[in-house]
Amino acid sequence: MSTPADGDTIAETSDAAVVEEKTNRRQPFPQGFLDTISTGWAERTESLPAARAQAPYAAARRDTVSKAFAGKRLVVPAGSLKQRSNDTDYPFRAHSAFTHLTGWAADSEPDSLLVFEPTAGGHDVTLYFRERADRTTAEFYSDATIGEFWIGPRPSLAGVAADLGVATAHLDDFAAGSDDLVVDDDDELTRFVSELRLIKDEYEIAEMKHAVAVTASGFDDVIRDLPRAIAHPRGERIVEGVFHQRARSDGNWEGYDTIAASGPHACYLHWTRNDGAVIPGDLILIDAGVEADSLYTADITRTLPVSGTFTEVQRRVYETVREAADAAFAAARPGVKFRAVHEAAMKVIAERTAEWGVLPVSAEEALDADKGGQQRRYMVHGTSHHLGIDVHDCAQARREMYYDGELKAGMVFTIEPGLYFQIDDVTVPEELRGIGVRIEDDILMTEDGPVNLSADIPRTADEVEAWMARAQA
Ligand code: GLY
Ligand code: MN
Ligand code: MN
Repeated sequence: MSTPADGDTIAETSDAAVVEEKTNRRQPFPQGFLDTISTGWAERTESLPAARAQAPYAAARRDTVSKAFAGKRLVVPAGSLKQRSNDTDYPFRAHSAFTHLTGWAADSEPDSLLVFEPTAGGHDVTLYFRERADRTTAEFYSDATIGEFWIGPRPSLAGVAADLGVATAHLDDFAAGSDDLVVDDDDELTRFVSELRLIKDEYEIAEMKHAVAVTASGFDDVIRDLPRAIAHPRGERIVEGVFHQRARSDGNWEGYDTIAASGPHACYLHWTRNDGAVIPGDLILIDAGVEADSLYTADITRTLPVSGTFTEVQRRVYETVREAADAAFAAARPGVKFRAVHEAAMKVIAERTAEWGVLPVSAEEALDADKGGQQRRYMVHGTSHHLGIDVHDCAQARREMYYDGELKAGMVFTIEPGLYFQIDDVTVPEELRGIGVRIEDDILMTEDGPVNLSADIPRTADEVEAWMARAQA
C-alpha cells in the first residue's frame, strides 16, 4: 500500500502529510484530483444514537471524582498511538482511567482528553477529541493516520456527545493550564482514579461475566484444535492463534499476551514467546483472557495434559494446585484482608512440598513471615490481583487499599496458585522437573461470599480429562 501525499493540497496540510511528502513513496496529486476530490460526495446525515449502557455509570464515577477534587482542573488523557516501526503503529488502546470515566472503550479516539473544568458548583466536564475533518481538507484524503479515506469513518462531536452523554469539543479548542492535575502526572489524582476501580458496579460485573464467557469459548476452541497444535513444529503459536481468533471475533483483543506454555515452558511464568512444540505426554499451561469491546478483561489459566490424560505425577501436582486454589477461595469473604487469600494458598503449597521432601525446612518454618519462604521457589508469584479494565487492575491503589486492604462486595480478583518445577532444578526429584501447573479463576466478591465467575471451565483433573475427551470426540 502506498500513501499519497503532496504539499499542494486544498486546505491546510497536516503534519503527517508533510512527513509523507519527504518519503520515497511520494505520489504528487495532479491538479485534476485536487480540483475534484472535495466534491461529489453525498450530504452526510447522522442520526444521533441513544446513550450507551455504560454512560450513566461513567457519569456517576465522574461525579465522585469531581467531589474529591473541588476547584481543581483535571485532565484524563486517552493516550496516543504508539509507533511499532517506521510508519506502523500498535492498535490503539485507551488509558483505562479514561475508559472508566467516559465509557469510551474499543472505539475511542487517540489523543482525546476528558477535562474537568472547575465551576462554583463542581465541574463542567468536556470530552475533547479530534473530530473527523470534512471533505474539503487534505486530512480527509491524504492523512493515512487519521484521514477517513484511509481508516474509515470517524465520529462527530454531536454523535459522541449523544453516545456517551457528555459534552464534547474539538481537540484544537483545548488549552492546557499550568495548574492542571493530569492522570499519570499527578500522583493524587492517579491514585484516586485507580482506587475508584476497586469496587465494580453492576455494568462492570456484567462485562466481566461476558469476558469470562468468551474466554471459556476460546479455551474450548483451543482444546478442539489441539491436534493441529501437536502436528505443528511451533504448536504453541497455533494455540495462541486459535485463542486470538476468538478474542478478535467476539471481543476487542486479549487483555494481555496469551501464555501458551507447553512442557517445561510452563515454569516460565510469563512465557509469551510461544514458539515451542506441543508434545503428547507433556502438560500445556494456557493463560489467556478476552478483553471485551468495553475493555473489561478475563484472566484465566488452565493446565491441560496434551495427550488427554494426566500421568500420576502430573495429576498429583495438578490436584495440589487445585487444593491451594480451593483453600484460597474458602478464605475469601467480605471483611478479611486481601492477603489472607494468598496466605491460605501458600499454606497448602508449603505443606505439600514439605511432605514431598522438597523443602529444606518444615512447612511451619517455611511459613514463617521473616525467616521462611523456601516454598516460594516453586511459586514465586502472588495468588491474587484485582481484575477489570486492566488485567492487573487498580495498579496505582495504595497498598493499604490493596494487598493490606479488606475484601469488599463488588471486588473482582483472581485466584491463581501454581507449582513450577524448573527443568534444571536439582532440589526436586527428577520426576517433578519440567512440570508447571497454574489454575487461575476470576472471582467476584458478594455480600454472601465469593462467586467463581469461571467455575464453568473445568477445573479438577477428572473434569479436565472429560472436557478434552468431549471436545476431541
Ligand atoms: N496473565 C497474567 C496474570 O495471571 O497475572
Ligand atoms: Mn492473573
Ligand atoms: Mn493469568
